[in-house]
Amino acid sequence: MQTVISFQNVSKYFFLQHQRTLKEALQALLLGEKPLEKVEALKNVSFEIKKGETVGIIGRNGAGKSTLLKLIAGVSKPTKGRLKINGQVSPLIELGAGFHPELTGRENIILNAVILGLSRKQAKERFEEVVEFSELDRKFLDIPLKHYSSGMYMRLAFSVAVSVDPEILLVDEILAVGDMAFQAKCKAKMEEFKRKGVTILYVSHNIEEVERFCERVIYLKEGRVVFDGKVKEGVERYRRDIDL
Ligand SMILES: Nc1ncnc2c1ncn2[C@@H]1O[C@H](COP(=O)(O)OP(=O)(O)OP(=O)(O)O)[C@@H](O)[C@H]1O
Ligand SMILES: [Mg+2]
Repeated sequence: MQTVISFQNVSKYFFLQHQRTLKEALQALLLGEKPLEKVEALKNVSFEIKKGETVGIIGRNGAGKSTLLKLIAGVSKPTKGRLKINGQVSPLIELGAGFHPELTGRENIILNAVILGLSRKQAKERFEEVVEFSELDRKFLDIPLKHYSSGMYMRLAFSVAVSVDPEILLVDEILAVGDMAFQAKCKAKMEEFKRKGVTILYVSHNIEEVERFCERVIYLKEGRVVFDGKVKEGVERYRRDIDL
């Protein structure tokens, strides 16, 4: 099978500026203190994912899961190392990533479909399908997104992301904010994609769900891959680590 995602010794660092007063900033400058704190979100991460694999990304808060998905989505660049992506990526990475709060639901649907690779014409053609899938009350379509509830926001994001026939689907915990009916619908859609051979990376703290849906799991711990393999084994390892 064709390799669609490949990471070779990928590291991602963030440099954090602590909030400080002008006086503290001047003192730091005069004393030659290092002003930035380095956060190593991913350290030397290497793996390959083949077409059609369903891979769970697990690990504690801050382990680097979202950072990893953002690199694949191309919204963030690695500090070191190389990564290659083959195929159209549909990211559902953060509530509203790619969505603009000041724009209306209607405008966001079209804009995002275009960002994800549809032509304007295709985006308009699929508009109805997206609205229908989202089950959003039509009266909200012409209202700025900032007035939506988080669940409504997520419904729209999910509906757009699945409308573009992705080859690689990234799902980051987002489903958790939907109500039960919509969660069930999202899961059914993900199952359908899985059957069709779409490559899916699924970040979730719902370990049972990961175990059920994914064949493989990558377990991140403080930015490093500590396990990559069969889902059952990986989940067991994680459970052991957090003492559950
Ligand atoms: N934009 C950013 N600027 C600075 N630091 C960041 C940024 N994004 C992530 N980090 C840091 O990188 C580390 C990994 O964060 P990441 O969001 O990838 O974790 P996560 O595994 O998704 O956690 P969670 O389960 O809480 O969602 C954390 O220490 C976080 O503080
Ligand atoms: Mg995260």
